[in-house]
Amino acid sequence: MKTLALAATLLLAAGVVHAAPYAGADIQAGKKTAEQKCNACHAKTAGGDGSSIYTRKTSQIKTSDLLTQQMEMCDSMGHGKLSDTERKNVLGWLNSQYYHFK
Ligand code: HEC
Repeated sequence: MKTLALAATLLLAAGVVHAAPYAGADIQAGKKTAEQKCNACHAKTAGGDGSSIYTRKTSQIKTSDLLTQQMEMCDSMGHGKLSDTERKNVLGWLNSQYYHFK
């Protein structure tokens, strides 16, 4: 029973974080991290400096959940694992610069 209550609390807590995924993000730090850890690989796919991958017409990233999922998938393919803070900052930057989810 205790375990169930704990699980419910954790789920609730996750829900709260989830509701404001970009709150408190350091946009400039996120931009820097993305330049260091994301651009080179995207440049191979999208050309240029890689940033056009975020504005491609075929983008399937229609919600903030999908943006988070894509970043996590990309991060697991990349070399450096992002810290929680880096993830938040990179998501904040991507959202403010390109995706504009609420
Ligand atoms: C190992 C290579 C690689 C690395 C490193 C990488 N990505 Fe990606 N990323 C890709 C590829 C390939 C795609 C296109 C996937 C597809 O077409 O479905 C992509 C697509 C994306 C998209 C979707 C763009 C759109 O709107 O269509 C986002 C967002 C994204 N990456 C974020 C990131 C972030 C943030 C990082 C750094 C933390 C990162 N990626 C690092 C390979 C990479």
